[in-house]
Amino acid sequence: MNLLGIGYIGLDVPDPAAWAEFATSVVGLMPAPNPPKAAPDEARFFKADERQWRVAVYGAEHPGLRYVGFDVGSPEAFERWLTHLDSTGVEFGHGAAADCEARGVRDLVVLRDPSGVRVELCWGPTVDGGFVSPVGVPRFVSGELGFGHVVILAPDLEASMDFYRRVLGMKLSDYVVIGPGMSVQFLRCTPRHHSVALAALGPAPGLHHVAFEVGDIDQVGFALERATRAGHAITASLGRHKNDRMLSFYLRSPAGFEVEIGCDGRLVDDRTWVVNEFTGGDEWGHHGLTAEALARSVAAQ
Ligand SMILES: [Fe+2]
Repeated sequence: MNLLGIGYIGLDVPDPAAWAEFATSVVGLMPAPNPPKAAPDEARFFKADERQWRVAVYGAEHPGLRYVGFDVGSPEAFERWLTHLDSTGVEFGHGAAADCEARGVRDLVVLRDPSGVRVELCWGPTVDGGFVSPVGVPRFVSGELGFGHVVILAPDLEASMDFYRRVLGMKLSDYVVIGPGMSVQFLRCTPRHHSVALAALGPAPGLHHVAFEVGDIDQVGFALERATRAGHAITASLGRHKNDRMLSFYLRSPAGFEVEIGCDGRLVDDRTWVVNEFTGGDEWGHHGLTAEALARSVAAQ
């Protein structure tokens, strides 16, 4: 059983208008011209490729990951997932018709990860056609790799690892030890090096960052230029991670949690992959992305 990557991401943000401006003019996402009809809570939807939407933003007092949805691919796979979830003993609920309409999918199930994140598995996402970035981003990397990745703070790392590996069938790509009892574990469900990373940093749950992958280094540079000109704090300078080889930078989004924009993410070949422990996170750059900064960003949430 394997998921086919992130299908969509829902974000809670205190100021939806500010986040919408950030999403379109800095990240380069497109306001969805045909959003799902049964959109609750005045969600704002954004396109990044041929899909009807990939990112939704909701007004909320506390910033964070409202939900993350994974594709299973087909009605047959969905049936197999229902059987599998039953066999794991995990609690899950079948989405109501209104839930499916709100996401623009045919069917979905809802689970809770041990950190409290709402995880959805779906099939039949809506495709409505062309993506035109308001700031000229030619494309975001998605397709068979799924859409981007999320890094979740996991106070109970053991329970979260069990959930993502045994229940959701993800594989450990590698991990970075960043201090006593502190680590980041990288999990994949497609050749993308990770769709989810679990950061064990302390007792607080939360969202550290959402990552968007663009096509090449110039698109990373243009994004850095837009972010700098708009006055957003660059929380980690341009750099290249040791493990997923992503060339990226991080910036603070208007909601407080960070956004990573990068390219060149490494693809994993299951047949030859060796799980490594990494000491330190980066080949070069990413100044600002320290264990202390991670802990501070967690404390601020
Ligand atoms: Fe990342």
